[in-house]
Amino acid sequence: PRTVVVDFSSPNVAKPMHVGHIRSTILGDCLARLLRLLGHRAITDNHIGDWGTQFGKLIVGWKSDLDRAALARDPIGEMERIYKKVNAASEADPAVLELARQELVKLQAGDDVNLGIWREMIALSQVQFETIYQRLGVKFDHTYGESFYNPFLADLVAELLQKGIARESEGAIVVFFDDHQKLKSHPALVRKSDGGFNYATTDLATLQYRVQTWNPHKIVYVTDGRQQLHFEQIFTAFCKWHPEARAQLAHVWFGSILGEDGRPFKTRSGETVKLADLLDEAEERALQVVSAKSPDLPEAEKKEI
Ligand code: ARG
Repeated sequence: PRTVVVDFSSPNVAKPMHVGHIRSTILGDCLARLLRLLGHRAITDNHIGDWGTQFGKLIVGWKSDLDRAALARDPIGEMERIYKKVNAASEADPAVLELARQELVKLQAGDDVNLGIWREMIALSQVQFETIYQRLGVKFDHTYGESFYNPFLADLVAELLQKGIARESEGAIVVFFDDHQKLKSHPALVRKSDGGFNYATTDLATLQYRVQTWNPHKIVYVTDGRQQLHFEQIFTAFCKWHPEARAQLAHVWFGSILGEDGRPFKTRSGETVKLADLLDEAEERALQVVSAKSPDLPEAEKKEI
């Protein structure tokens, strides 16, 4: 039996799960189930997006414009609303953008108020995620999320520098892949010139944690195809950093869900289709089919089918 870590679903906090998340969730869950059926040890981890620059804007909106009643009724909708509002305001007014940057810096420095708001946003989002996972019958062994790896990032970058894997470039710290045919022209940023870390830094820390914690034979990531380059960079950088690691790394990717017009699937009003709405509609249409075929069944049984 082999040990395989499966990283899948991984939605982002304060945003609705949309139609694209169904594929990562279902494909990842199927892979984990198949592995277990075959007698392997599958470890599932939902790498939720609970850290990042969006929280600066969300905190500005939360402090200045939060509608508590709306938050109680529809938490994700309200968080989406304040985010969109502050995002638009910061495009029009650099002072708002600066304010969001300051709130983010405070959050990252451990400010109590901002940490409290951030935790509440995560808790509210978790409720939404859980509802969907219950409907789909999906469970995770772990939900560490991006923020779990924060304490490791500074040391990680220092080590990459010290080992000559990363170097300074225009104020940023970058991993260059000089000897790699394709990635030669796609270096990976691990620390921005303002000192902030990014998605790649977190993923390197995540990989190291998984290797050290579970010593897996394989780690599988399930995301849409737009992240192919990201994972190629991460896997290549990690092999330079930990050549002794035995873990085979795989990115299982899928395409975007397109509408009839061949463009990313949107509602009539141009919004992204929410996963909860998609599941409602699927259930409703299935119920119609069952009712047409077996009109005499009791209502509860029709629903169950
Ligand atoms: N949160 C990311 C997204 O919505 C997916 C994360 C996938 N996993 C990872 N280890 N990067 O696109």
